[in-house]
Amino acid sequence: MKPENINHPVLNFIIEDDITKEDYYALVSEYQQMILLYESAVKQLITKFEIFNQEYKMRGARNPIETVKSRVKGPESIVRKMKKYGFEKSLESIVLNLNDVAGVRVICSYVSDIYLVRDMLLAQQDVTLVEERDYIKAPKENGYRSLHLIIELPVYLTRTVSRVKAEIQIRTIAMDFWASLEHNIRYKAVDAFPPGVVKELRDCAEIIAVTDRRMEALAHKLHQGLH
Ligand code: GTP
Ligand code: MG
Repeated sequence: MKPENINHPVLNFIIEDDITKEDYYALVSEYQQMILLYESAVKQLITKFEIFNQEYKMRGARNPIETVKSRVKGPESIVRKMKKYGFEKSLESIVLNLNDVAGVRVICSYVSDIYLVRDMLLAQQDVTLVEERDYIKAPKENGYRSLHLIIELPVYLTRTVSRVKAEIQIRTIAMDFWASLEHNIRYKAVDAFPPGVVKELRDCAEIIAVTDRRMEALAHKLHQGLH
């Protein structure tokens, strides 16, 4: 088979020379297995967060988690990122270099809930922390706030057990509101932002962060401590 006849974005990216049909189908199957592992990791994580939330609801009649969103990175997006960083073209290289093929976003009610969710997750024996970036303690230049964790967890298939990486973004409803709209604005903009826009976005993020803290203080006052 000739590379130009391969329609699949990821396989088209990886395969540079003519390839036999057998080798091609072996790669297709390997790719499908890789995606299955990421999908399974996402399912396991969603379940962990659901159980955590149910446990809290039962004990204290409140939800530390508002919403959980998840996605497995699509083939075009995988290729875009591999090209952007110039990583070696192979499935192994995707697994090694991309930490966010499996992605879960946890949206919490209050800032303290973010750290509650983090501690709960990292306390589980099957979860190991690979990397942590706290953009709440140190927000990005544009004002972006969230806690990012790269974790690894085992996925069991019939004959194998694999350690699979996932990116977990934990943020409040307010932080999510800002990030969603900033993403929209950036997506629609043709050129890079003029400096004034970055400052304006950062100002909005500050106002939201202040509101987040005030709402949490209010909740604490009314319920004599949230936890
Ligand atoms: P990539 O951005 O994935 O290449 O990796 P990185 O090493 O820069 O990781 P980082 O933790 O900065 O960002 C990972 C993800 O966080 C992104 O894919 C977004 O989903 C989210 N994110 C980071 N920065 C911003 C931001 O400024 N605005 C918004 N809306 N989302 C952001
Ligand atoms: Mg980035």
